[in-house]
Amino acid sequence: MSPNSASHNLFVFDTPEDLAKAAAERFVTYCAEAIQDHEKCSVALAGGSTPRRVYELLATDPYRTQIDWSRIHLFFGDERCVPPDHPGSNYRMVYQSLLSKLPVHQENVHRIRGEIDPDQSAQVYEDSLKAFFSGLPWPRFDLALLGVGADGHTASLFPNSAALKEASRWVIKTKQNESGQNRITLTLPVFNHAAHVMFLVTGKEKAARLRDVLQGASTDRQTPAAMIRPVGGTLEWFADAQAAALL
Ligand code: 6PG
Repeated sequence: MSPNSASHNLFVFDTPEDLAKAAAERFVTYCAEAIQDHEKCSVALAGGSTPRRVYELLATDPYRTQIDWSRIHLFFGDERCVPPDHPGSNYRMVYQSLLSKLPVHQENVHRIRGEIDPDQSAQVYEDSLKAFFSGLPWPRFDLALLGVGADGHTASLFPNSAALKEASRWVIKTKQNESGQNRITLTLPVFNHAAHVMFLVTGKEKAARLRDVLQGASTDRQTPAAMIRPVGGTLEWFADAQAAALL
């Protein structure tokens, strides 16, 4: 990794492509560490558009062959309540950019079922997490990838929402503030129990929000991304120069 400025946990890259390559390298490293330690690796994937290039790189050499995909379990940090073939589906984006190109075992892909009743979907997903992370008080993802919305949301944890107070559920239903779209999301405590959290942030439209998050310029509830503070885990911000322009 050759970041322009690595201060504490912020890595800034000239271009989105440089960021994606560095993020893919980090993904490979964390997966190898987890497999070395406990013979498998659990990753909560981010949705939206920013991670797409990272996923595309992971499906191509050299990154593809550096990962033992048979030991990787892929989960989703959140999902829109739409069918898996819907243009807005995070699963569809991950399938197109990554899953369709890899020998990932189907049982290792843990999709959030956006096509069923949201409350039922949240419960079904939480049950699947509790089965995978059996016996743990909270799931410990080896890696969680996240993005930040221009409004400061992350996953489907939106500003000033009741979801930000959830302290016991692992998976809940939320609503996107403007559109009213139902979402399913992992909760703050889940992300904050991950071993490694990596934010991927690009574009000038994120610059003000990234400054708010990293410089504490807004209250937590206004900027849910700032509430991601892994206990006993690492937190890293991968930003391109445009997103970091106000730092
Ligand atoms: C989603 C994501 C969401 C995303 C941010 C940033 O389902 O959309 O979980 O939190 O990470 O909105 O999205 P972009 O990467 O498209 O800017």
